[in-house]
Amino acid sequence: MDTPRPVFTPPAPVPRTGPVGTLQLIRTVYRNPLELWGEPSYNEPWVSIEWSFAHTIIANDPGLIRHVLVDNARNYRMAAVRQRILRPILRDGLLTAEGETWKRSRKAMAPVFTPRHIHGFAEAMKKTTESFADRYADARGPVDVSRDMTMLTYDILAETLFSGEIAGDPDSFSHEVDRLFETMGRVDPLDLLGAPQWLPRFTQLRGRRALAFFRQIVASTIEMRKARIDRDGDAVPSDFLTLLLRTEGPDGLSRAEIEDNIITFIGAGHETTARALGWTLYLLSKAPWERDGIEQEIDDFMDRRDLPPPHEWLDALPLTRAAFEEAMRLYPPAPSINREPVEDDRYQDLLLPKGAAVLVMPWTVHRHRLYWEQPDAFLPSRFHPENRSRIDRFQYLPFGAGPRVCIGASFALQEAVIALAILLHRYRFDMADETQPWPVQKLTTQPDGGLPMVVIPRR
Ligand code: HEM
Repeated sequence: MDTPRPVFTPPAPVPRTGPVGTLQLIRTVYRNPLELWGEPSYNEPWVSIEWSFAHTIIANDPGLIRHVLVDNARNYRMAAVRQRILRPILRDGLLTAEGETWKRSRKAMAPVFTPRHIHGFAEAMKKTTESFADRYADARGPVDVSRDMTMLTYDILAETLFSGEIAGDPDSFSHEVDRLFETMGRVDPLDLLGAPQWLPRFTQLRGRRALAFFRQIVASTIEMRKARIDRDGDAVPSDFLTLLLRTEGPDGLSRAEIEDNIITFIGAGHETTARALGWTLYLLSKAPWERDGIEQEIDDFMDRRDLPPPHEWLDALPLTRAAFEEAMRLYPPAPSINREPVEDDRYQDLLLPKGAAVLVMPWTVHRHRLYWEQPDAFLPSRFHPENRSRIDRFQYLPFGAGPRVCIGASFALQEAVIALAILLHRYRFDMADETQPWPVQKLTTQPDGGLPMVVIPRR
């Protein structure tokens, strides 16, 4: 008889059992919203809570999620709290644009994200990861893999955005990116309470100067490229910046919107993938029985004499992809997708009143008792090709769903599998000590204190 495979259950907050007072609510939302959710949020199809200052609906049921994000999406706008935090920074970028501006921008940008262009970025993803991986060759002692993955995905994004052609010093640019996103992540208690905009948010003040400096570099970089296109015509890099500049025009994007979208791509497109990569490496380190199979898959593939081009790796490495997808189930980089009904709405016997906070939370949906077996266990086989059809489209939402689904999803998946293939082919990642990384929701789901790991060459 086969011995049963061990199962690894990674750290996560235990669902609350008692009620939460207003002060405790504010403190938890500020420190770590993941610790807020009680038993019903992981067991019920939906939860409707009336606080003294707001009405919150937690939508877990796949049918309800489909109703909010797809079938009746016209009746839902982006949640006011998120807009208050992100709009001053991202302005009319795709993530924060609404109404006609969003519609025109999404249409104009669709051609930028076609498979042909995403595939065109694969070689840059491979080269950037290879040179990043070289630095581990002489690593002595533990490194913070969480931080390293942010550097890797930032390098990949900088390469695919600008091909390294930034106005000014690339290192100080990446420093400004760091400063900006450090301050961006927090929900200010004043926003939660719906305080008026003229009241200063102490969580945001620090970021203002960083933002002004950062915007100025992005604007100069765009000017620099525009001048090059005018001079050299088609002989310019075919990166995001060139592709976005080609959408410029009355039916496409304005120059200011191009700037907003560059900043949006930086905001939405590297930290998310970095968190998912970090959690994947952590989970595999704790489940060596899973890692063995993945190393085998990667070795067999990467050692081939006729190694296919990197845009084909995603389809060629199903176990590696499954581990990444399972990591995004357990630790969704975007843990909450928030909406607000424009008018009163109803789904079955649930009333969704105008202005309520409707939370579609990958965090609770992905760990829900009704929809998953062993919801808290790390079981990548759920995502193996033969099992995939058992997963409802609306019970697994790392990239959201409906008209506002992540436009960068295929970019992120391609990038992640290329990065994992190169890193796991060359190295084994193990936790440096027994500390358990605690998931904390900032803008993304982050391991508090990072991921101290030792990186051991495999060949
Ligand atoms: C693992 C990586 C990623 C995850 C988990 C992720 C997750 C998400 C989610 C959940 C949404 C929907 C938000 C909502 O409906 O409120 C979204 C939207 C978006 N994402 Fe991603 N994302 C990732 C990578 C990327 C990348 C690489 C880019 C760009 C290069 C990107 C750009 C965007 C943009 C522009 C939107 C707004 C789309 C719209 O509203 O039309 N994301 N992402």
